[in-house]
Amino acid sequence: MPEGGSSEVRVTGEAVAGDRPSPAAREALGAIEDDIARGGFAFRSGAEMGTILGARALDEWPAFAASWDDLGIDTYMADGGRYRRRRFCALGVTGTAVSRKEHQPHYQSRDHNQLNGGVERWFMPVHDAITGNAFAQALIRYCAMLFDRASSMTSGATPWHVEMHQFRIEATQTEQGAPTPEGPHRDGVDWVCVMLINRTNVRSGVTQIFDPAGRSLGEFTLTDPIDTVFLDDRRVFHGVTPITPLDSERKANRDVLVLTFRREQDSNPAQG
Ligand SMILES: [Fe+2]
Repeated sequence: MPEGGSSEVRVTGEAVAGDRPSPAAREALGAIEDDIARGGFAFRSGAEMGTILGARALDEWPAFAASWDDLGIDTYMADGGRYRRRRFCALGVTGTAVSRKEHQPHYQSRDHNQLNGGVERWFMPVHDAITGNAFAQALIRYCAMLFDRASSMTSGATPWHVEMHQFRIEATQTEQGAPTPEGPHRDGVDWVCVMLINRTNVRSGVTQIFDPAGRSLGEFTLTDPIDTVFLDDRRVFHGVTPITPLDSERKANRDVLVLTFRREQDSNPAQG
């Protein structure tokens, strides 16, 4: 189980009392919450997210994004693919305090991932400097605040178990890259935040949202850095179409951050 080694070992960011969201960020919070309540998801452009997260966070964006150049190959791909690179870590969030947990495997049940689920998958840990990065900290705290509001519960009472995934999907002329090889799916948590870090030479990679009956609720493409989608994982399925290179002579890269949020005390059977 992912929470198996859940002892909190070190604080990666200060619980900064003065680091409250700006009025613009608070206003955006309500609008995002409304979108999620209506349709089960909310898309926000990188420009909007930049305003929400603020200048101090954006100062550290370059270092945050550059860390995607140092990921390990995902050797667990049951389709035999070697087109996915990643790092992973687990965090706890209580209020505005974000703490890093002991390194642990990522686990999804086969119900939620028929391709790669059912086994504990160990990935290289996210660097401490990246979980401690001001951009990461601001985003994690903002998500926690949003998901607290959307679920009418506070993380002060019931902390969040957060999993952070850094992904790079690569594609070449001879091998397409599948961001979601398992097809449309739920992650088996409560809430998900997917943020585009960068796209280089990428064709397609369209994000698609479905209801549980498989009806389309919307589709859009994360094209610019910091473009973000928030998902109510209990209500909607998500998937991303395979990518191929625009210029077939060069490799295509699609870099994405995924944050999943689940209530700490929730013995969500989906997480096995
Ligand atoms: Fe997913």
